[in-house]
Parts: sequence; C-alpha cells; structure tokens
Amino acid sequence: MKFDKNFLFGVATSAAQVEGAALEDGRGLSIWDTFARIPGAIADGSLPDPTCDMYHHWKSDIQLMKELNIESYRFSFSWSRILPDGKGRINEKGLDYYKRMIDELHKQGIVPNATIYHWDLPYELEREGGWLNRDIVNWYGEYASLLFKEFGDSVPIWATINEPVATYVGYAMGFFAPGYKNEKYGRQVNHHILFAHGEGVQRFREAGLKDAKIGIVVDIWNHHPLRPDNEEDQRLAEMENEKTYRSYLNPIFRGCYSDKLLHYMEENHCMPQMEPGDMEKISRKIDFFGLNCYNRVVDCADPDLLQNRKREILGGNYLDDGTEFYPKAVYDAAHILHDEYKLDIPIYVTENGLANCKQQVEEDGSIHDTERIQYLNGFLEWIEKAINDGIDIRGYYVWSLLDNWEWCGGHKARYGLVHVDFDTQQRTCKDSAVWYKNKIAEVKKDS
Ligand code: FCB
Repeated sequence: MKFDKNFLFGVATSAAQVEGAALEDGRGLSIWDTFARIPGAIADGSLPDPTCDMYHHWKSDIQLMKELNIESYRFSFSWSRILPDGKGRINEKGLDYYKRMIDELHKQGIVPNATIYHWDLPYELEREGGWLNRDIVNWYGEYASLLFKEFGDSVPIWATINEPVATYVGYAMGFFAPGYKNEKYGRQVNHHILFAHGEGVQRFREAGLKDAKIGIVVDIWNHHPLRPDNEEDQRLAEMENEKTYRSYLNPIFRGCYSDKLLHYMEENHCMPQMEPGDMEKISRKIDFFGLNCYNRVVDCADPDLLQNRKREILGGNYLDDGTEFYPKAVYDAAHILHDEYKLDIPIYVTENGLANCKQQVEEDGSIHDTERIQYLNGFLEWIEKAINDGIDIRGYYVWSLLDNWEWCGGHKARYGLVHVDFDTQQRTCKDSAVWYKNKIAEVKKDS
C-alpha cells in the first residue's frame, strides 16, 4: 500500500523559533526572550530575535513552501503577541499578523495546522508563577477561546500543546525556560499543562467548530534496554518510559497516572496537587494524536558499556555526530499507540527531522545534506510500514522548513530543509528540500 492521496506532507515551525520581531507591534515578552539573556543558557549566546524573521518574511516563505510542493504548514501562535500580558488586553496587531498569514496559506492551497502553545509562555504569566499556578488553566483557556473565535473557521487542525515534556524540562531540569531545577515543580507543571490541555479541548467543543479537529502533540522517545536480558537495564528503560511519554499518554488516554509513576512520585516527595475531576477533563476525547518522533533512547546501568556501543557502531548505524540512526522509532511509537493504547483516532507525525549532519554551503551555494535525506526517507519508509499494518497515519511534517532558533541550541542546531543566513536573511534550498519536493510529487502522482 502507498500513501493515500489525502495524506498530508508538511513542514513544521514554532513562533518563538522563527518569528523574531520580539518587541514589535505591541508583542509582550515570552519566557524564552528572558531566559535567553541568562549568560550560558543558550549554546551560542544567540537570542530568539531576529532568528529567521518570519514576521516580515511570511509571504515569501509561504511562496517557498508552495514551490516545494508543501501541502500543510504547522505553526504555532505566540501567546504574548496576541495577549501581551498573557491575559486581558488583546493586541489587535498580533491577531492581524496571523490573519494575513493564514489567508495567504489558503490562497496558496496549503492547509494550516496550528498549535496553541509551543513553549513560549508570556513572561507576565511566569511572574505570577507560570505553570506552577493552577490559575494558568483559566489563563490558557481564555487564550484558546480567543483563538477559536478568531481562527476557528480558517484553521482545520488544532493542537492544544506541543510536547508537554518541555515544561517539565523547564521547571525540573533547568536547561529550558524558565530554568528551575526542581523535580516537584516539574511534576506539578506536568499536571497543570495536561489539565490546560483538557480545558482547551473543552473550550474547543464549546466553540462548536464543525470543520475543525483538535488534538495534542506528544513526543515519543522510547527507551530500550541496551542488554535486553539484563534486569537492571530493563528496569531503567521501563521507568524512563513511565516518567516521560507515558506520564502524558496514561492521563490522556486512560484518565490516570500509572501505579509505577504514582509510586515514584510518592517515594520522591514530588506528588503533584490534583483535584477530583482533573483526570476526567484531561482525558476528554480528542480527534487526532500528534506524534513527534526523532529517535529512540538506549539505557544501560553501566555507563562504560554505553560509550563502547557508540564507538563500535560509529560509521555504521550512527550519524556523523554519534546519534543513532533508528528510523524504526516511528513505527515502534505508532505501534505503542495502536497496540497498547488502542488508539481509535488518526495519527499525524507532526515533527521529524535532523540537525546534526554535514551541511556546509559549497562555493556554488549548494548544500549537500545527504544524511538528512537518508534520515527523512528512512522514517517515511517506516511510516509506510505502520500504515500497511493498518495504523491510521494521515500526515507527516518535517521539522523544519527553515534553519531557525533551536532553543538552548541557539543557531548551532540547523534543522532546516532550507538554509538561512541569519545576517542577510537569505534562504537557500538544501538538497533535502529538493528531495522532499520531488518525493511529494512522486507520491502524489502515484496515489
Ligand atoms: C522538538 C520541538 C521543536 C524543535 C525540535 C527540534 O522537540 O518541538 O520545537 O525544537 O524538537
């Protein structure tokens, strides 16, 4: 079986990573604007402004998408561009920006796929406790309702939240904004962001949008034991899965945290405060699942063994930077959703991409990012296999259209199909952009 003719091939970005114009037209700051100013927080010291300045280049960038045969564009709204204080006062100029952009997408026949929250919390809300404050569920709900009112008729695909784990990383591990290192905070914000997701779904239903669907985007990095028969490795991998993606899938699809996670949180004194009824809201039925998938993780109780493994496979199953090339990760993730969670809604692969491969600009301006092509093609092959197994996958989005501002990786991690010169804002298609364009044309010709 081949990709269905309605299967959507897209590209993904997020507001904080591509828009720039952080201080223009009344936008309020986000936690990433402030976090990036902490010395040492960002690998190359860069700021999320101007990055690829899409705020001013949206029209030509959409034109570029069109030229590359892109069928759908996944983007996110900047909460603080629309509500500079996070709540209350509306910035009309912010709304206008997204109106212009969405209109242009329709004009070019590109399906908008919008994420309500992709990590860039308004700084003013962080000053009131951010995701630690349970009131955020209402703040988020008001913001979501405003978006449904303004854009509900023009955006057919909505995601409440992108990768809730990023909020955990920001409050428990410290290397994402806002930069706390506190496990109890991390578990609490995880609960609140799931609760906000449920609130978003409820508000979406209340808005009564007939031709649109709502879901959430979660990243699945499945952990595997390095030594499959070793009990310690097994336990490690299993627990990591519980603490990461399963801590979202269980509440969303089963309406509870697993016993293993509850036990862990009890033992480590990091049980979040919850109220009766929370889980009911979190597990409200959604219309699709957004799967972000980049790789798997291999765990081993003996760190030396892990190091050796990298050395042994280097040049074989590993990419240049030592990260593993394991495209079956997407097939495994689809099967976890289908077999274990009995998913009865479609999946969209909402992100997949590669930063760390050879991609220097040659003298003639070309960029031969061969490994990216190999990587993306590998994932697409495994997606096809999952579809052949009967799993309902409806779309695939490459992260990302453009090289952009990769959070704490700054401009060092270049994920784009299209190269960006951050001094001149010049865009240059890498080989992978041309490959993707041709791939889409080929698939659509045959379907
Ligand atoms: C994902 C994020 C996205 C980008 C890619 C590389 O986890 O959702 O914003 O950073 O990784």
